[in-house]
Amino acid sequence: MPLSVKNLTYVYNPGTPFESKALNDITLTIEDGEFVGIIGHTGSGKSTFIQHLNALIKPTSGSVYVDGEDINESKNKAALRRRVGLVFQYPEYQLFEETVFKDVCFGPSNLGLSADEVKTSAERALETVGLKSDVWEQSPFELSGGQKRRVAIAGVLAMHPEVLILDEPAAGLDPVGRSEILGIVKRIHDGGTTVIMVSHSMDDVARLCSRVIVLEKGSAVLDGPIREVFRHADALQKMGLRLPQAAALTRALNEKGFDLPDEIFTVEALSKALLQKLLTR
Ligand SMILES: Nc1ncnc2c1ncn2[C@@H]1O[C@H](COP(=O)(O)OP(=O)(O)OP(=O)(O)O)[C@@H](O)[C@H]1O
Ligand SMILES: [Mg+2]
Repeated sequence: MPLSVKNLTYVYNPGTPFESKALNDITLTIEDGEFVGIIGHTGSGKSTFIQHLNALIKPTSGSVYVDGEDINESKNKAALRRRVGLVFQYPEYQLFEETVFKDVCFGPSNLGLSADEVKTSAERALETVGLKSDVWEQSPFELSGGQKRRVAIAGVLAMHPEVLILDEPAAGLDPVGRSEILGIVKRIHDGGTTVIMVSHSMDDVARLCSRVIVLEKGSAVLDGPIREVFRHADALQKMGLRLPQAAALTRALNEKGFDLPDEIFTVEALSKALLQKLLTR
């Protein structure tokens, strides 16, 4: 089920003194099974962009197509939102029920499923995100930041989306929490779901994504496989973005004559290349 945007432009508060163009003429397609990272400086339009992909925001001009259908013309937006699940930047905006279990049941209970099917979907989703049954009856608001994120992800997964969009899923978590959440997202992608992830971390994007889209002042200025986009180190730097740490270190070492391969973006790849160099000296 491909997702496409064509000449997508969005203006907040048009015709008022607060008018601001958040997205500027974006055209691109995301195919089945991709793991796409969306990066860009704060205010570059990342959250505004992804909210268009499941019709939470309607374009000022241009169109969004899900499986070839213009989602803003669709009579059944609810069905499209089920297929394209969005986890918000702040999980507090998404959670609202008294208990974790009720919260995760909310989505599937609106799909016309039997009570048993709703329960099974919620249980499976909670298991996928690693939330044990001892927290299912707690209020989601009493949980830690990382656990709230998991509940928010489970609530979307319980509807079995074909595309999962996450807005900064690891932001504000400690290193263990980050790697747990990202491990969950990776497993969901490995299971066949298309994943679109907004992230401030070049390292996370380099490690997980196959493609990266760079937004700058509302325009998609770079879009391609990791190795192609991160080749533009100077352009990225001008936008206030850095290379993944391993790529930056590789560049610095090569400037000192190390002669490492250009396409190193992760700590794992760098340590392998360095070991190989040391062992063959
Ligand atoms: N509700 C709103 N009303 C008016 N302007 C908004 C609103 N939400 C966002 N904007 C503006 O639109 C632009 C894009 O914002 P957006 O939140 O999409 O950026 P972002 O890339 O997600 O930023 P961040 O990295 O901080 O989350 C910014 O200039 C922002 O100030
Ligand atoms: Mg944002």
